[in-house]
Amino acid sequence: MNLMLNAIEAMKEMATPGKLTISTQQDENRQILVSVSDTGIGIRPNRRGKSSIRSLPSKSKATGMGLPISRSIIESHGGRLWATSNSGPGATFRFTLPVEAAAVQSA
Ligand SMILES: Nc1ncnc2c1ncn2[C@@H]1O[C@H](COP(=O)(O)OP(=O)(O)OP(=O)(O)O)[C@@H](O)[C@H]1O
Ligand SMILES: [Mg+2]
Repeated sequence: MNLMLNAIEAMKEMATPGKLTISTQQDENRQILVSVSDTGIGIRPNRRGKSSIRSLPSKSKATGMGLPISRSIIESHGGRLWATSNSGPGATFRFTLPVEAAAVQSA
């Protein structure tokens, strides 16, 4: 939900209508891979090659805790969360969740 709301927020200031795309697939390690992609203001790689995020001026009520909380939830389930810049406008946030670890743990 946080990734979707962030994507919608990132598209609010754009002149053209935005497009939010959510997809799920199984990645090469047989993990669930969820992608949340938008056509918003995007993110830029910083000097270390990692993605940095800009503050959205429209977000006055934001706590800025959404992504750290999202990451800690996903990592506590054995997954990973990361962001990349789209080749066109916008950003894509992806996370993985293991399929088999949960089954092993509950057995
Ligand atoms: N899809 C995105 N495109 C561009 N910038 C983004 C995107 N998602 C997040 N950001 C940037 O990262 C910041 C942090 O996001 P995060 O979800 O952690 O906090 P927030 O949305 O500002 O507040 P909260 O989620 O706590 O209400 C956002 O304010 C925004 O500047
Ligand atoms: Mg948020």
